[in-house]
Amino acid sequence: MSNLSNKIALVTGGSRGIGAATAKLLAKQGAKVAISYNRSREQAQQVVEEIKGEGGDAVAFQADGSNSNAPSQLVENVIQYWGAGIDILVNNAGVFSTGTLAESGVDIYETNFNLNVRGVYETTRAAVPHLNDHGRVINIGSSVAHYAFPGASAYGATKAAVAGLSRSWAKELASRQITVNTVHPGSINTDMNPDVPDNDFAAYQKTLNPLGRYGTPHEIAVAVAFLAGPDAGFITGSELTVDGGLTA
Ligand SMILES: NC(=O)c1ccc[n+]([C@@H]2O[C@H](COP(=O)([O-])OP(=O)(O)OC[C@H]3O[C@@H](n4cnc5c(N)ncnc54)[C@H](OP(=O)(O)O)[C@@H]3O)[C@@H](O)[C@H]2O)c1
Repeated sequence: MSNLSNKIALVTGGSRGIGAATAKLLAKQGAKVAISYNRSREQAQQVVEEIKGEGGDAVAFQADGSNSNAPSQLVENVIQYWGAGIDILVNNAGVFSTGTLAESGVDIYETNFNLNVRGVYETTRAAVPHLNDHGRVINIGSSVAHYAFPGASAYGATKAAVAGLSRSWAKELASRQITVNTVHPGSINTDMNPDVPDNDFAAYQKTLNPLGRYGTPHEIAVAVAFLAGPDAGFITGSELTVDGGLTA
């Protein structure tokens, strides 16, 4: 499949998990893919090498999305590297910092919001002047935006905020035929939320999910790739939930 030929994509947090799967799938469909990472340089480089090994084109840039200066530098790096504007922006980098309201300090609020909301806001703000007409912005939310999860109130609020930002941006960017959507994953087997044996939290999540299992990063990547593709041009301001029925 090559329906993203000649498209340039930026996937934040593409070194691991959902972002890595998304970068690989977009590249498989023909896009040139830039990924960002914060700490996992080697894993980011592995993703790049894997894409190149399959005949694709990719590059990785270090950028801490929770640092207010990093997103504009990241976008600048991508524009300079490819010498062209961005067609597909996937705001995927995220952190899941937990604690109940009674137990946690404001640090949990700040950790979640600095990356999951301000990082998304700043990256998109920096990208907007460089987004090509008919472009795509896909923000990774979470089912926790719609499903109360004790101990994850700040995280859940960041993902509800992301969906809200997406809806407004969908209207702001519509005149350029740029679509903006949110993909809400449920429990996905990644380093952030590992589906490992004897893990009570993982077992509990499966009881909440009618399909009784975790999803894979690839199952999120296919939703992102669909929204990034030419067939999804009339879908904007939407929320696509991929959670095995958790929030049904
Ligand atoms: N897994 C789930 O069950 C689940 C469910 C719902 C939503 N989500 C959302 O899906 C997205 C991806 O999650 P995941 O499960 O794939 O997580 P993950 O396996 O922990 O990977 C997180 C990615 O984000 C990057 N990242 C972390 N902090 C960063 C920072 N400060 N600046 C830039 N990049 C940073 C990481 O790069 P480095 O390693 O280089 O720092 C890594 O590439 C997140 O937005 C998450 O909230 C996940």
